Parts: sequence; C-alpha cells; structure tokens
Amino acid sequence: METLASPLNYENASLKFGAQVPSSSVTWQSPSNIALVKYWGKRDIQIPCNPSVSFTLKASLTETTVEYAPGSGNTVSVEFYLDKVRNEKFEAKIGAFLESIRPVFPFVAQLHFRIFSHNTFPHSAGIASSASGMSALALCLCSIEKEHFGNLPDDSEFYRKASYIARLGSGSACRSVYGGLVSWGKIEGRPDTSDEFGTQLDPSSVHPDFQDYRDSILIVDSAQKKVSSRVGHGLMNTNPFSEERFRQANRNIVKLIEAIRTGDQETFIKITESEALTLHAMMMTSDPYFLLMRPNTLNIIEKIFAYREQTGHPVCFTLDAGPNIHLLYPQRIENEVKSFINAELVQFLHDFCMIDDQVGNGPNRINL
Ligand code: PMV
Repeated sequence: METLASPLNYENASLKFGAQVPSSSVTWQSPSNIALVKYWGKRDIQIPCNPSVSFTLKASLTETTVEYAPGSGNTVSVEFYLDKVRNEKFEAKIGAFLESIRPVFPFVAQLHFRIFSHNTFPHSAGIASSASGMSALALCLCSIEKEHFGNLPDDSEFYRKASYIARLGSGSACRSVYGGLVSWGKIEGRPDTSDEFGTQLDPSSVHPDFQDYRDSILIVDSAQKKVSSRVGHGLMNTNPFSEERFRQANRNIVKLIEAIRTGDQETFIKITESEALTLHAMMMTSDPYFLLMRPNTLNIIEKIFAYREQTGHPVCFTLDAGPNIHLLYPQRIENEVKSFINAELVQFLHDFCMIDDQVGNGPNRINL
C-alpha cells in the first residue's frame, strides 16, 4: 500500500508519540451503508472521481474490538481474528493498512494490536464487510488517539478524522462513520463536502419519508465477488464512457439530495435505479468487461417494475457491486411490500435469504 500525503495536515498529529500507554481495549460497532449515487472510479489515494451519497444501515454491522499493549516501538505488529478465528489473509491486509497510516498515527508502530472482528450479517449473504469493518477499525484507532495522545478534542473532529482514516482503508467506509444520509466527495455548491471524508446530510434537510426508509436486502447469490472493487475502480481509467459517467453522477447527486429534502419519491426512484444500472453498465463496458448481475437479479427487477406500475407504491431497487437487490421503500408501506416479497420475490432468492434492514443512526462505542 502507498503511504499518504495528507492535505488535512493529519501527518505527525500524534505529537505525544512515546507516551506510556497501558494495555487496554476499545470496541466499536459500525454499520454498513448502501450507496444511492455510486462511487465507481478513483484516483490518487482513494480520492473518488465523483461524489456519492448513501443510506447508513442499521442491522448490518461489524463489531470490532482492538486490544492494545506496549509494543516494540518501531514496527507494526498485529494479530487479526474474524469470529474469534485468526485470519492471516485479513491480518496481512490490516497490517499493510496500519503501515500506510503511520504518518497520521505514529502510535500504530508503538503498540501491539490484537483485533477481533465480527459481522452481524452472515458471510454467505454476500454483503461486503469492508465498509462497516474499516469504519469500526478507524473509530477504534481514533478512540486510542483521543485517550492516550491528546488529540481530537471535539466530536466533529473525532468523526471527521475517523471518516478520513476509514476512507484510506476502503473508500465507501468513510460514509459509514455517520448515521442517516451521508455524502462523500465534493458537491457543487456545498462547501462542507470533501473528497477526503464523508459529510452527514443535515437531518433537517431529510424529508420524514427518508428518515426511516426500509432496505430489504434480497440475496440472489452468495458467491464471493468474481472481480474485486479495487479492480473494478481501476477499469474506469480506461472505460470510454467514464468521463460522461462522472459528469452524470455530479448532476444526479444534486438532484437526489433535493428530492430527499422535498420528499419527491418519483425523482428519488428515477435517479436511484438509474445509478444502479449505470454502475453495472460501467462494468459491462470495461475492458475486460464483466457482469455481476445474475438472471434472478433481472427477474426481481422486472417484478419491481410491474408492482410499481400496478400499485403506484414508491418501491425501487439499487445494486451494489454484486447480484443482490436492495429493495428500498418508505416505512409506511412496509406491510404491503413484505406481502409483495413473500408472494412474488422469495422464489428468486438464494436459500430464501433476505436481510431486513433500514436507515440507522450510525456507529456506537461499546463500553465493556
Ligand atoms: O469502497 P469500495 O472500494 O469497496 O467501493 C464501493 C463501490 C460501490 O459499493 C459499488 C459503490 C459505493 O459508492 O459504495
């Protein structure tokens, strides 16, 4: 992993490096998020080619405990356990990540870490855990920074730095640090937004319909992704449609945020579904091309179109970088939509698997 140059001046921020740190631990639970306007394409070190916005989820969580003790003082030393079992593949990744953030957090070379991570959603659900996992880890590191190295005086700086650190681990993770609706990337006319960290949409600019939106995650296929998102982002560098795609996302995000403010379901649906299909169109037009939707992804989409046409209910879908459908709808029509799922969609699900989720309030520190 490359080391970073930080325009935020976070480098060398842990001025009290060398302070005696007692052995202790910290635990955070952080949710996953689902993007409405998609981030697909990056430059430099995890800088997005276009802004994105997501709902933070509630039930799909990673809980991470970081145990720390005095270490050798000059090298990153970490053990990583997933569901209490040591995982060397993730351990190597986390080790490289910690190494890369040494300019921001010199203390990571001063301590020995044992990291325990657990996801509330089954591995077989095919939900990426990188957003919730990196967000939880970044929050733990910021808590250590705050407690022992005297920085991060207030909450807003704490979460901003956590978002910044999470972004370096996995781009979309920077949005999981906050609850509700969260953007990432500079948005025209919004000076509070940045390419370096996420920004929560002020809850007063979110229409009540969108404050408790539901997300029924319909699992079509639980197989591991055939193409990693790192490779997918990279292919946008040579995709012939990428520049227009980035311009489109800039236009869409402004319109979508306005629709969320006013409660304009029609515009919300149009942009959200178009964004999902455009994300997959980018995959299909990359060189080499690849296809992550499955036949049942399309079967479900057709059913959603027909249901919306027949009932007029504001139900729509989005897709992540995978075949599973996120069915989005306001809480007020939950019973009707659940009946629709049971009657018409379960036949297309892998092992009848669905995760009932909704917009959540963001991460929580767990005091053990
Ligand atoms: O954060 P990454 O590198 O895993 O990329 C996430 C990309 C999408 O999930 C497809 C879109 C997004 O904005 O979350």
